[in-house]
This record gives sequence, C-alpha cells and structure tokens, in this order.
Amino acid sequence: MNTTELTAVAGISPERLPALLRGMPKAELHIHIEGSLEPELIFALAARNGVSLAFDNVESLRAAYAFSDLQSFLDIYYAGASVLLHEADFHDMAMDYFRRASADHVVHAELFFDPQTHTDRGVPIEVVINGLARACEEAEAEFGITSLLILCFLRHLSEETAFDTLAQALPSIERHRDRLVGVGLDSSEQGHPPEKFARVFARCRELGLRLVAHAGEEGPPAYIWSALDVLKVERIDHGVRCVEDPSLVARLAAERIPLTVCPLSNVKLRVFDTLAQHNLARLLELGLCITVNSDDPAYFGGYVNQNYIETFEALPAMTAADAYTLARNSFEASFANSTQKARWIELLDSYFLNA
Ligand code: HPA
Ligand code: ZN
Repeated sequence: MNTTELTAVAGISPERLPALLRGMPKAELHIHIEGSLEPELIFALAARNGVSLAFDNVESLRAAYAFSDLQSFLDIYYAGASVLLHEADFHDMAMDYFRRASADHVVHAELFFDPQTHTDRGVPIEVVINGLARACEEAEAEFGITSLLILCFLRHLSEETAFDTLAQALPSIERHRDRLVGVGLDSSEQGHPPEKFARVFARCRELGLRLVAHAGEEGPPAYIWSALDVLKVERIDHGVRCVEDPSLVARLAAERIPLTVCPLSNVKLRVFDTLAQHNLARLLELGLCITVNSDDPAYFGGYVNQNYIETFEALPAMTAADAYTLARNSFEASFANSTQKARWIELLDSYFLNA
C-alpha cells in the first residue's frame, strides 16, 4: 500500500475496527500448542487415556486459571499437558487450534511445542512430532492454513538435557525438514538467561534451524541482548521490557528484529496490570516490528482475534493503519519464503483497499 492509501485506511472509523480486525488475514507466530488445550479437551483426553486430574470438572479447572506470575501459570499448564500420551492426542489438540485459528482468519501459524514436557513422562518425541505434523498437513487441506513447527527447550532445565532432546529430535527433524524449521526457548525466564543455552543454540544454528527465544517478558532487557548476541535469534518472543533500554530499542528498530507480543497473556501473568497500560502502541510508535499473538489461548482468555480486538479497544490511539501494520508485520516476520510472504501481503492490501 502507498502512503495515500495508508492515510485513507487510518481514517476508517473506530466503530468499524472490531469487524476489520476480525476479518483481516493474519499470521500467528507465538502460540504454544499445549497452551491451546481447552479444559473440555483436557477432560476428554484424561478420560480417553485413563489419566487422573487434580480437578473434579471443567469448571473447577477453569476457575484455577487465576495467575499471579509466569510460574503460577506454568505449574498448571504442565499439569494440563499430562493428558497427552498418544499421537492422536497431539493431533487432536492441534486440529482444535487450527479450527479456531482459521475462524480468526489466520492463514499461517508457527506452532511452539515443548517436547521435554512429554518425553519426561515417557512419551517418545516422535509421537509428539508425528501427531503435530499430521495435524499441520490436514489443516492445510481442510482450512487452507499453512504452518510450521518450532521445538522449544525448557529453560528451567539444563543445557545438557536440551542437547539430549535435540539428539532425540534429530530423526524427526530430518523427516519433517520443511515443517519443523526452528527452535525456541520458553518456560521460567527469571534466573535462566539465554546464555545458559549458548552451545545448544550454536549447534541448532549449524544444523540450519531458525532460532527464536522468549526474552524480556518477565526478564530484564539484558536477556534480550543475550538472546540476540549470544543465541543469535531472529525473533524475540514477548520482548516488551525492551523499552527500559533505549539503546536496545534502537538496535531492534535498526535491525527490524520482530517482537511477538501477546497482550492478553501479559495481563493474565501480571506483566501489565491492565490492557490500557500495555505498551504495544508505544512499541509501534518506536518503529519496532511488532506482531500480535495469543501465547496460550486456552489459559489467557482468547485466541488471536480476541487479542487484537481487546487491545484496540483498550488503546484508543490505535487506528486501522496500525491494524494493517501489525498484520503485515506478522507475514514479514514469519519463516515462510518470500514468494509466500508477497502473496499474503497482496491479499492483505486488497482486504484493506476494499474495506
Ligand atoms: N512464557 C514462557 N514460557 C511459556 C509461556 C510463556 O508465556 N507459555 C508457555 N510456556
Ligand atoms: Zn510464550
């Protein structure tokens, strides 16, 4: 879109924003697939697999979704994942996500998964990856969504166990080369700086894998610096605390390092008290490549469209031109090839020009 066209888009009235946000084509780049497990599916899989849960029913489980910080969420999130045992479980979980994402006009998704959460319970890593990869294929046929997988190392565990996980994953990485394209770093951030994983990320880089890491969610700007300089990641997941360091903001802007921001997650995990206090509009103003994502939608109150709609509602300075920028960023920041990106941006332009 040219500047004149973008100015016209900026003039779209605020009442039209929810419908515009809902219908616009978008990519989702920060979604933990285990975080899409809805309580109903947790109970269905528990029954199917004979797993007992610490909660009596869906309502009492959902009532426990009141978090004080990242760790209080992770405790319940890992408990929820305990119902996943067989390939079909991973497949069904991902298909439920794709169905909802497709309804939100997501045309491309890059899914994080946490193999150590499953291998530590005796589930072979290929069971996890085969189930997810099969869902990715089916979702493309059924909903027209393209997708990639990103294997995340749990940062509260040692680098040695991350190396073990990588070794276990190698045959699957070979087998699903076009699908499983990268690695990330998630789980408890404080006290587990990116540099703890310097060697395993270097090895992944040698293997030609794409690299991302959670940094600057609860952790300090120094963790964003070391994710960039030590791990050499291409995108930062969350990254909202970068604003505390102007020289870091300048670096992120100059190199157009994408931040995959998750507004509802940040409020649920008390990174910000309210959405009105979220710094997303400020980050855009600073010229950063910001994207909007759901993180763990079953736990944080909504899928990606809910994140867009509630954020725009809470931050009245944001216009339809920002909506366009955010969606465009989501495509540009993806790990898809440039032909695919150009196709999505054409689709996005025509959506806004006809809005
Ligand atoms: N942060 C860190 N680790 C996670 C998250 C998150 O928001 N969601 C799932 N694992
Ligand atoms: Zn996350």
